[in-house]
Amino acid sequence: MAKFIFTCSNGYEKHLSDELVSKDFRLLDILPGFVLTVRDDKFVSGVKDLCFPHFCMIFPQLIEGGSVNSLGKEIAERFFNINRDREFDGPWHFLSGFDPEVKGLGKRESAVAEQALVNLKRIAGKVARLAETDLPAQAERQNGLFLYFSDFGKVWLSTEFVWFGQRRVSDDPAAPSRSYLKVEEAYRVFGAEPESGDTVCDLGAAPGGWSYSAAKRGAKVTAVDNGELKGGARDNANIRRLSADAFTFEPDRKYDWLFCDMVEHPNMVTKLLEKWIEKGWCRNFIVNLKFGRTDPVELITKLSSPQSLLKKRCLYFDIKHLYHDREEITLLGRLE
Ligand SMILES: C[S@@+](CC[C@H](N)C(=O)[O-])C[C@H]1O[C@@H](n2cnc3c(N)ncnc32)[C@H](O)[C@@H]1O
Repeated sequence: MAKFIFTCSNGYEKHLSDELVSKDFRLLDILPGFVLTVRDDKFVSGVKDLCFPHFCMIFPQLIEGGSVNSLGKEIAERFFNINRDREFDGPWHFLSGFDPEVKGLGKRESAVAEQALVNLKRIAGKVARLAETDLPAQAERQNGLFLYFSDFGKVWLSTEFVWFGQRRVSDDPAAPSRSYLKVEEAYRVFGAEPESGDTVCDLGAAPGGWSYSAAKRGAKVTAVDNGELKGGARDNANIRRLSADAFTFEPDRKYDWLFCDMVEHPNMVTKLLEKWIEKGWCRNFIVNLKFGRTDPVELITKLSSPQSLLKKRCLYFDIKHLYHDREEITLLGRLE
Protein backbone atom coordinates (compact mmCIF):
# COMPACT_ATOMS: atom_id res chain seq x y z
CA MET A 1 0.00 0.00 0.00
CA ALA A 2 1.37 3.44 -0.92
CA LYS A 3 0.26 6.75 0.57
CA PHE A 4 -0.57 9.84 -1.49
CA ILE A 5 -1.72 13.32 -0.52
CA PHE A 6 -3.72 15.35 -3.01
CA THR A 7 -4.35 19.08 -2.67
CA CYS A 8 -7.16 21.00 -4.37
CA SER A 9 -8.98 24.34 -4.23
CA ASN A 10 -10.52 24.94 -0.83
CA GLY A 11 -14.12 23.67 -0.85
CA TYR A 12 -13.66 21.05 -3.59
CA GLU A 13 -12.47 18.17 -1.39
CA LYS A 14 -15.73 16.24 -1.93
CA HIS A 15 -15.31 16.27 -5.72
CA LEU A 16 -11.60 15.43 -5.42
CA SER A 17 -12.40 12.54 -3.04
CA ASP A 18 -15.09 11.18 -5.38
CA GLU A 19 -12.67 11.39 -8.28
CA LEU A 20 -9.97 9.55 -6.33
CA VAL A 21 -12.41 6.82 -5.22
CA SER A 22 -13.39 6.37 -8.88
CA LYS A 23 -9.68 5.65 -9.54
CA ASP A 24 -9.38 3.07 -6.72
CA PHE A 25 -7.78 5.30 -4.09
CA ARG A 26 -8.92 4.67 -0.50
CA LEU A 27 -9.55 7.79 1.58
CA LEU A 28 -7.80 8.14 4.95
CA ASP A 29 -8.36 11.78 5.88
CA ILE A 30 -10.01 14.86 4.39
CA LEU A 31 -9.14 18.42 5.44
CA PRO A 32 -9.76 21.77 3.69
CA GLY A 33 -7.97 21.53 0.32
CA PHE A 34 -6.31 18.23 1.29
CA VAL A 35 -7.07 14.51 0.88
CA LEU A 36 -4.85 11.77 2.32
CA THR A 37 -5.22 8.45 0.48
CA VAL A 38 -3.72 5.02 -0.06
CA ARG A 39 -3.64 2.89 -3.17
CA ASP A 40 -2.19 -0.53 -3.63
CA ASP A 41 0.15 0.22 -6.51
CA LYS A 42 3.32 2.21 -6.02
CA PHE A 43 3.47 3.62 -9.52
CA VAL A 44 1.05 6.49 -10.13
CA SER A 45 -0.12 5.54 -13.61
CA GLY A 46 -2.54 7.96 -15.23
CA VAL A 47 -2.37 10.29 -12.24
CA LYS A 48 -1.72 13.33 -14.45
CA ASP A 49 -5.16 12.91 -16.04
CA LEU A 50 -6.97 13.69 -12.79
CA CYS A 51 -9.04 16.87 -12.87
CA PHE A 52 -9.41 18.20 -9.32
CA PRO A 53 -5.92 17.85 -7.75
CA HIS A 54 -3.40 20.67 -7.89
CA PHE A 55 -0.56 18.66 -6.33
CA CYS A 56 -0.03 15.00 -5.54
CA MET A 57 2.56 14.16 -2.87
CA ILE A 58 3.91 10.65 -3.40
CA PHE A 59 4.88 8.62 -0.28
CA PRO A 60 4.50 11.58 2.13
CA GLN A 61 6.03 11.48 5.62
CA LEU A 62 4.64 13.34 8.61
CA ILE A 63 6.94 15.58 10.66
CA GLU A 64 5.70 16.89 14.00
CA GLY A 65 7.45 19.53 16.04
CA GLY A 66 7.05 22.63 18.11
CA SER A 67 9.32 25.39 16.92
CA VAL A 68 10.25 26.83 13.52
CA ASN A 69 13.86 25.83 14.22
CA SER A 70 13.14 22.21 15.10
CA LEU A 71 10.84 21.72 12.11
CA GLY A 72 13.32 23.39 9.75
CA LYS A 73 16.16 21.19 11.03
CA GLU A 74 14.12 17.96 10.75
CA ILE A 75 12.96 18.80 7.20
CA ALA A 76 16.53 19.52 6.02
CA GLU A 77 17.85 16.29 7.60
CA ARG A 78 15.10 14.10 6.14
CA PHE A 79 15.53 15.64 2.69
CA PHE A 80 19.30 15.11 2.91
CA ASN A 81 18.96 11.48 4.06
CA ILE A 82 16.41 10.55 1.38
CA ASN A 83 18.71 12.04 -1.29
CA ARG A 84 21.99 10.77 0.19
CA ASP A 85 22.94 8.90 -3.01
CA ARG A 86 21.49 11.36 -5.51
CA GLU A 87 23.71 13.55 -7.72
CA PHE A 88 22.24 17.05 -7.96
CA ASP A 89 23.39 18.42 -11.30
CA GLY A 90 20.66 21.01 -11.85
CA PRO A 91 17.87 22.99 -10.20
CA TRP A 92 15.23 21.15 -8.16
CA HIS A 93 11.87 22.46 -6.99
CA PHE A 94 11.14 23.35 -3.38
CA LEU A 95 7.42 24.12 -3.04
CA SER A 96 4.93 24.17 -0.21
CA GLY A 97 1.27 24.56 0.64
CA PHE A 98 -0.87 24.86 3.75
CA ASP A 99 -4.38 24.41 5.13
CA PRO A 100 -6.09 27.69 4.08
CA GLU A 101 -8.47 27.59 7.04
CA VAL A 102 -5.83 27.66 9.79
CA LYS A 103 -5.26 31.32 10.63
CA GLY A 104 -1.64 32.47 10.37
CA LEU A 105 -0.41 29.19 8.87
CA GLY A 106 0.87 30.90 5.70
CA LYS A 107 3.41 32.89 7.77
CA ARG A 108 4.46 29.75 9.60
CA GLU A 109 4.90 27.95 6.27
CA SER A 110 7.25 30.67 4.93
CA ALA A 111 9.27 30.80 8.15
CA VAL A 112 9.73 27.01 8.36
CA ALA A 113 10.56 26.68 4.64
CA GLU A 114 13.20 29.43 5.00
CA GLN A 115 14.65 27.73 8.08
CA ALA A 116 14.73 24.37 6.28
CA LEU A 117 16.79 25.97 3.51
CA VAL A 118 19.16 27.58 6.05
CA ASN A 119 19.72 24.16 7.63
CA LEU A 120 20.15 22.47 4.26
CA LYS A 121 22.83 25.08 3.37
CA ARG A 122 24.75 23.96 6.46
CA ILE A 123 24.72 20.26 5.56
CA ALA A 124 24.72 20.45 1.74
CA GLY A 125 25.47 23.99 0.54
CA LYS A 126 25.67 23.16 -3.17
CA VAL A 127 22.34 21.28 -3.14
CA ALA A 128 20.60 24.09 -1.23
CA ARG A 129 21.80 26.68 -3.76
CA LEU A 130 20.12 24.72 -6.58
CA ALA A 131 16.69 24.97 -4.90
CA GLU A 132 14.08 26.66 -7.11
CA THR A 133 11.01 28.06 -5.33
CA ASP A 134 9.00 29.10 -8.43
CA LEU A 135 6.51 26.69 -10.00
CA PRO A 136 8.06 24.37 -12.62
CA ALA A 137 7.79 25.28 -16.31
CA GLN A 138 5.67 22.21 -17.03
CA ALA A 139 3.10 20.19 -15.17
CA GLU A 140 4.85 16.92 -14.46
CA ARG A 141 6.28 14.59 -11.86
CA GLN A 142 9.10 16.22 -9.91
CA ASN A 143 11.95 15.04 -7.72
CA GLY A 144 12.39 17.88 -5.26
CA LEU A 145 10.77 18.86 -1.99
CA PHE A 146 7.12 19.54 -1.31
CA LEU A 147 5.87 20.49 2.16
CA TYR A 148 2.24 20.66 3.21
CA PHE A 149 1.40 22.32 6.53
CA SER A 150 -1.80 20.91 8.01
CA ASP A 151 -1.18 22.74 11.31
CA PHE A 152 1.51 24.77 13.12
CA GLY A 153 3.36 21.69 14.31
CA LYS A 154 2.32 19.23 11.59
CA VAL A 155 4.13 19.17 8.26
CA TRP A 156 3.90 16.54 5.53
CA LEU A 157 7.07 16.11 3.46
CA SER A 158 7.49 14.48 0.10
CA THR A 159 10.49 14.36 -2.23
CA GLU A 160 8.42 13.12 -5.20
CA PHE A 161 5.38 15.02 -6.30
CA VAL A 162 3.20 15.79 -9.30
CA TRP A 163 2.07 19.30 -10.15
CA PHE A 164 -1.08 19.45 -12.31
CA GLY A 165 -0.41 22.89 -13.81
CA GLN A 166 -2.88 25.17 -12.01
CA ARG A 167 -1.59 28.59 -11.02
CA ARG A 168 -2.85 31.98 -9.98
CA VAL A 169 -2.44 34.46 -12.83
CA SER A 170 -2.45 38.23 -12.71
CA ASP A 171 -5.35 40.40 -13.77
CA ASP A 172 -5.38 43.06 -16.47
CA PRO A 173 -7.20 46.31 -15.62
CA ALA A 174 -8.69 46.46 -19.15
CA ALA A 175 -10.17 42.94 -18.91
CA PRO A 176 -13.96 43.23 -18.61
CA SER A 177 -14.52 40.19 -16.35
CA ARG A 178 -12.79 37.86 -13.89
CA SER A 179 -13.38 35.07 -16.46
CA TYR A 180 -10.32 36.55 -18.18
CA LEU A 181 -8.18 34.88 -15.48
CA LYS A 182 -9.56 31.42 -16.34
CA VAL A 183 -8.58 31.55 -19.99
CA GLU A 184 -5.16 33.05 -19.17
CA GLU A 185 -4.57 30.17 -16.74
CA ALA A 186 -5.92 27.65 -19.27
CA TYR A 187 -3.25 28.68 -21.85
CA ARG A 188 -0.54 27.81 -19.32
CA VAL A 189 -1.96 24.35 -18.63
CA PHE A 190 -2.45 23.83 -22.38
CA GLY A 191 1.09 24.99 -23.20
CA ALA A 192 -0.29 27.01 -26.15
CA GLU A 193 -2.28 30.21 -26.70
CA PRO A 194 -3.76 32.18 -29.60
CA GLU A 195 -1.03 33.94 -31.54
CA SER A 196 -1.02 37.05 -33.69
CA GLY A 197 -3.06 36.35 -36.84
CA ASP A 198 -4.86 33.29 -35.36
CA THR A 199 -8.64 33.18 -35.65
CA VAL A 200 -10.76 32.64 -32.54
CA CYS A 201 -14.50 32.03 -32.22
CA ASP A 202 -15.73 32.86 -28.72
CA LEU A 203 -19.21 31.42 -28.00
CA GLY A 204 -20.95 33.15 -25.10
CA ALA A 205 -18.35 35.91 -25.20
CA ALA A 206 -19.86 38.82 -23.25
CA PRO A 207 -18.69 40.87 -21.46
CA GLY A 208 -15.55 39.81 -23.31
CA GLY A 209 -12.76 38.65 -20.98
CA TRP A 210 -11.79 35.67 -23.14
CA SER A 211 -12.15 37.64 -26.40
CA TYR A 212 -10.02 40.45 -24.96
CA SER A 213 -7.34 37.97 -23.88
CA ALA A 214 -7.04 36.58 -27.45
CA ALA A 215 -7.36 40.03 -29.09
CA LYS A 216 -4.52 41.47 -27.01
CA ARG A 217 -2.28 38.72 -28.46
CA GLY A 218 -3.15 39.93 -31.97
CA ALA A 219 -5.71 37.19 -32.76
CA LYS A 220 -8.84 38.00 -34.81
CA VAL A 221 -11.87 37.19 -32.68
CA THR A 222 -15.50 36.50 -33.61
CA ALA A 223 -17.44 37.06 -30.37
CA VAL A 224 -20.88 35.40 -30.42
CA ASP A 225 -23.30 36.70 -27.80
CA ASN A 226 -26.49 38.71 -27.56
CA GLY A 227 -24.90 40.62 -24.69
CA GLU A 228 -22.67 43.68 -25.14
CA LEU A 229 -18.89 43.59 -24.85
CA LYS A 230 -17.32 45.85 -22.26
CA GLY A 231 -13.95 47.28 -21.13
CA GLY A 232 -11.00 46.41 -23.37
CA ALA A 233 -13.21 44.15 -25.52
CA ARG A 234 -15.57 46.95 -26.52
CA ASP A 235 -14.66 48.68 -29.82
CA ASN A 236 -11.57 46.49 -30.03
CA ALA A 237 -10.26 46.42 -33.62
CA ASN A 238 -9.46 42.70 -33.32
CA ILE A 239 -12.96 41.72 -32.14
CA ARG A 240 -16.09 41.42 -34.31
CA ARG A 241 -19.28 40.81 -32.28
CA LEU A 242 -22.13 38.76 -33.72
CA SER A 243 -25.46 38.87 -31.96
CA ALA A 244 -26.48 35.22 -32.39
CA ASP A 245 -27.35 32.00 -30.59
CA ALA A 246 -24.22 29.90 -30.10
CA PHE A 247 -26.17 26.66 -30.59
CA THR A 248 -27.38 27.53 -34.08
CA PHE A 249 -24.44 29.68 -35.20
CA GLU A 250 -22.59 28.19 -38.20
CA PRO A 251 -19.11 29.52 -38.92
CA ASP A 252 -18.09 30.48 -42.45
CA ARG A 253 -14.49 29.29 -41.91
CA LYS A 254 -12.34 26.98 -39.80
CA TYR A 255 -11.12 28.69 -36.61
CA ASP A 256 -7.74 28.14 -34.99
CA TRP A 257 -9.42 28.31 -31.58
CA LEU A 258 -12.89 27.66 -30.25
CA PHE A 259 -13.62 29.33 -26.91
CA CYS A 260 -16.86 28.61 -25.07
CA ASP A 261 -17.86 29.79 -21.60
CA MET A 262 -21.66 29.70 -21.38
CA VAL A 263 -23.89 29.17 -18.38
CA GLU A 264 -25.75 26.25 -19.99
CA HIS A 265 -26.19 22.57 -19.06
CA PRO A 266 -22.83 20.74 -19.45
CA ASN A 267 -24.42 18.08 -21.70
CA MET A 268 -25.64 20.77 -24.11
CA VAL A 269 -22.24 22.45 -24.22
CA THR A 270 -20.50 19.10 -24.71
CA LYS A 271 -22.83 18.30 -27.64
CA LEU A 272 -22.05 21.70 -29.13
CA LEU A 273 -18.31 21.04 -28.81
CA GLU A 274 -18.75 17.62 -30.43
CA LYS A 275 -20.60 19.25 -33.33
CA TRP A 276 -17.69 21.68 -33.83
CA ILE A 277 -15.25 18.76 -33.81
CA GLU A 278 -17.27 16.60 -36.22
CA LYS A 279 -17.78 19.48 -38.64
CA GLY A 280 -14.05 20.29 -38.46
CA TRP A 281 -14.72 23.92 -37.45
CA CYS A 282 -11.79 24.34 -35.01
CA ARG A 283 -8.19 23.24 -34.50
CA ASN A 284 -7.98 23.85 -30.73
CA PHE A 285 -10.54 24.46 -28.02
CA ILE A 286 -10.90 25.81 -24.50
CA VAL A 287 -14.38 25.08 -23.19
CA ASN A 288 -15.68 25.74 -19.71
CA LEU A 289 -18.44 23.50 -18.33
CA LYS A 290 -20.50 24.81 -15.41
CA PHE A 291 -21.36 21.58 -13.63
CA GLY A 292 -23.99 23.11 -11.32
CA ARG A 293 -26.15 20.22 -10.05
CA THR A 294 -24.55 17.66 -12.36
CA ASP A 295 -22.09 15.26 -10.73
CA PRO A 296 -18.71 16.49 -12.05
CA VAL A 297 -17.00 13.14 -11.53
CA GLU A 298 -19.61 11.33 -13.65
CA LEU A 299 -19.12 14.03 -16.26
CA ILE A 300 -15.31 13.69 -16.23
CA THR A 301 -15.53 9.89 -16.36
CA LYS A 302 -17.82 10.04 -19.39
CA LEU A 303 -15.76 12.69 -21.22
CA SER A 304 -12.48 10.89 -20.68
CA SER A 305 -13.70 7.35 -21.42
CA PRO A 306 -12.16 5.67 -24.49
CA GLN A 307 -15.60 5.86 -26.20
CA SER A 308 -15.77 9.65 -25.85
CA LEU A 309 -15.51 11.52 -29.15
CA LEU A 310 -13.24 14.09 -27.47
CA LYS A 311 -10.86 11.38 -26.32
CA LYS A 312 -10.92 9.68 -29.73
CA ARG A 313 -10.45 12.76 -31.88
CA CYS A 314 -8.04 14.93 -29.86
CA LEU A 315 -4.26 14.70 -30.18
CA TYR A 316 -4.18 16.37 -26.76
CA PHE A 317 -7.14 16.40 -24.38
CA ASP A 318 -7.23 17.42 -20.74
CA ILE A 319 -9.90 18.31 -18.18
CA LYS A 320 -8.83 20.47 -15.27
CA HIS A 321 -10.36 22.23 -12.33
CA LEU A 322 -8.29 25.41 -12.62
CA TYR A 323 -7.18 27.60 -9.74
CA HIS A 324 -9.57 30.29 -11.07
CA ASP A 325 -12.46 27.85 -11.70
CA ARG A 326 -15.35 27.65 -9.26
CA GLU A 327 -18.32 25.26 -9.86
CA GLU A 328 -16.91 24.53 -13.30
CA ILE A 329 -14.27 22.53 -15.12
CA THR A 330 -12.24 23.42 -18.19
CA LEU A 331 -11.78 21.21 -21.24
CA LEU A 332 -8.62 21.75 -23.28
CA GLY A 333 -8.02 20.10 -26.62
CA ARG A 334 -5.90 20.10 -29.77
CA LEU A 335 -7.28 18.40 -32.86
CA GLU A 336 -4.48 18.96 -35.44
C1 LIG B 1 -20.06 33.50 -18.10
S1 LIG B 1 -20.52 34.59 -19.37
C2 LIG B 1 -19.09 34.55 -20.39
C3 LIG B 1 -17.96 35.34 -19.84
C4 LIG B 1 -16.87 35.53 -20.85
N1 LIG B 1 -16.15 34.31 -21.13
C5 LIG B 1 -15.88 36.57 -20.39
O1 LIG B 1 -14.68 36.27 -20.31
O2 LIG B 1 -16.27 37.71 -20.14
C6 LIG B 1 -21.67 33.66 -20.27
C7 LIG B 1 -22.19 34.35 -21.52
O3 LIG B 1 -22.81 33.34 -22.31
C8 LIG B 1 -23.84 33.95 -23.04
N2 LIG B 1 -24.74 32.89 -23.53
C9 LIG B 1 -25.43 31.97 -22.82
N3 LIG B 1 -26.14 31.19 -23.66
C10 LIG B 1 -25.85 31.62 -24.92
C11 LIG B 1 -26.25 31.19 -26.21
N4 LIG B 1 -27.10 30.18 -26.38
N5 LIG B 1 -25.75 31.84 -27.28
C12 LIG B 1 -24.88 32.87 -27.12
N6 LIG B 1 -24.47 33.31 -25.92
C13 LIG B 1 -24.96 32.69 -24.83
C14 LIG B 1 -24.48 34.90 -22.04
O4 LIG B 1 -25.18 35.91 -22.72
C15 LIG B 1 -23.27 35.41 -21.28
O5 LIG B 1 -22.84 36.64 -21.79
